[in-house]
Amino acid sequence: MKILVTGGCGFIGSNFIRHTLRRHPDARIINLDKLTYAGNPENLADVETDARYEFVQGDICDPATVERVFARGVDLVFNFAAETHVDRSIGDPGSFVMTDTYGVYVLLEALRRFGGARFVQISTDEVYGSIEVGAFRESDPLNPRNPYAASKAGGDRLAYAYFCTHGLPVLITRASNNLGPNQYPEKIVPLFTTNAIDDLPLPLYGDGGNVRDWLYVEDHCEALWVIAERGCVGEVYNVGGGAEITNLDLTRRILAILGKPESLIQPVVDRPGHDRRYALCCDKLRALGWTPRHDFDAALRDTVQWYVKNQAWWRKIKSGEFRKYYEAQYRGREV
Ligand code: NAD
Ligand code: DAU
Repeated sequence: MKILVTGGCGFIGSNFIRHTLRRHPDARIINLDKLTYAGNPENLADVETDARYEFVQGDICDPATVERVFARGVDLVFNFAAETHVDRSIGDPGSFVMTDTYGVYVLLEALRRFGGARFVQISTDEVYGSIEVGAFRESDPLNPRNPYAASKAGGDRLAYAYFCTHGLPVLITRASNNLGPNQYPEKIVPLFTTNAIDDLPLPLYGDGGNVRDWLYVEDHCEALWVIAERGCVGEVYNVGGGAEITNLDLTRRILAILGKPESLIQPVVDRPGHDRRYALCCDKLRALGWTPRHDFDAALRDTVQWYVKNQAWWRKIKSGEFRKYYEAQYRGREV
């Protein structure tokens, strides 16, 4: 089976490629990745020499590149490629609109032209917006509240439109916040873990009461395969970890694992348009036979330990492009 993975050098994509090579011996993978600041070939250093894996550097917004890959024959596509950081989308939304909406259009056009492949569009729970009580179902209206979420909603609905209009075999997934190894340290779990290791402040937005539902990346990878193999085309599937906690609680747990003091918590001015709570009803996916297998506290412990053991990986990132970003992002935001 020939599989096209886009954005495979990022956090979830790299975990997914490793997972797939381990669990699906017949898989042949092409990884098409632009290598933005978030794409890191080191995430896949251990599979580089696997004959079943091939890396192609390229942009999903470039039709010629995308068509060249599709022309080689593809049975299954997982589109992970995206700009993914909400904070960056606030100051610089252009690349989000391009990759997360226009890039999906380019992939869908290639799919239309070359036909055949099942196409899994990796969307996000952020497209629903915020929910105070209860949990979003797949049939709920979308209400994205930041440029990242709105751009992802564009890609999500374009994929659906190509199913309705052209009958393309598209499936759409909406997952909650992932945690695990190889996540770029701009996101809360790796940022707070690596800052705490170095006794640096942990910049907690607002009152720390925002709630996220945490999903271990390995459980997400399993869900994507269940959806690809057993899901109905044209359908949307929520993928939630069922582990809802506030950011303050999450921060305290990270500090406790590392044996660091809570005095490292630094309240900062809130993120504009900060969604208060995400929660997903996952009955539809559970009916296909999936359930998250990893307990949240164990997953968080393993994740934190991964960053403790792999300091060379994140120290290289934090001393590069990230430094300038972090300075600009957090300067003078203390409250
Ligand atoms: P990431 O930021 O770690 O990685 C994104 C990858 O996409 C990088 O390797 C980057 O180089 C590549 N990329 C970006 N623009 C590209 C382009 N134009 N062409 C080709 N490659 C490009 O992202 P992630 O956290 O691994 O997220 C992967 C996918 O999962 C995204 O679509 C995201 O919206 C979705 N998602 C993420 C989460 C989460 O918690 N991280 C939750 C739900 C859904
Ligand atoms: O819900 C799925 C989404 O999860 C994905 O679609 C996104 O790609 C992914 O980045 C993530 O979005 P969030 O905005 O939820 O993740 P982030 O790690 O940026 O923030 C998580 C929570 O922590 C959020 O409520 C904001 C807060 N936060 C974040 C950072 C970076 C802080 O309090 N301080 C911080 O420094």
